[in-house]
Amino acid sequence: MAILPILKYPDPLLLEVSEPVTEFDESLKKLSSDMIDTLKDAPGAGLAAPQIGKRIRLIVMDNSSLEDEQYNDVITLVNPVIVHAEGKQVYMEGCLSVEDLQSNVNRYLRVKVDYQDLYGNPKTIEASERRAVILQHEIDHLDGVLFLDHLSPLKRELYIKRMRKQAKKPQKS
Ligand code: NI
Repeated sequence: MAILPILKYPDPLLLEVSEPVTEFDESLKKLSSDMIDTLKDAPGAGLAAPQIGKRIRLIVMDNSSLEDEQYNDVITLVNPVIVHAEGKQVYMEGCLSVEDLQSNVNRYLRVKVDYQDLYGNPKTIEASERRAVILQHEIDHLDGVLFLDHLSPLKRELYIKRMRKQAKKPQKS
């Protein structure tokens, strides 16, 4: 069991595009297991590899359909691709890499995602509502996109200004 440090905005690594996974080896399984430990410890709904400094296309997510069943079903998706999306929803989001901000984001209501499991087997998942949001949010991370990028320029600017102000304050020991 290992809890990995989560990179925080504005770390430049969060803005990079991640590479496809080609080796389905033991180190990939170890990484997935550590990321699941980190997700539960945070606690969060989903975590993408670039958030812990690995520039590869791998995400873990809480796939439980009910909030009170959190972490009953945590899954790992390797090389996930949204192959179909439909409908609209507005969802209140936050991010383990974006501190002190929650905001409404426009998302698709339903998505279908092709991916591979940790052994390289092709899989498909269909999701709606909360789970569809998690999939869209985490897959965005693999392309260096944060939920901040979905906000209006004004809202994003206000957040960036607030973070700059905080950074200037003397640190308490
Ligand atoms: Ni996030």
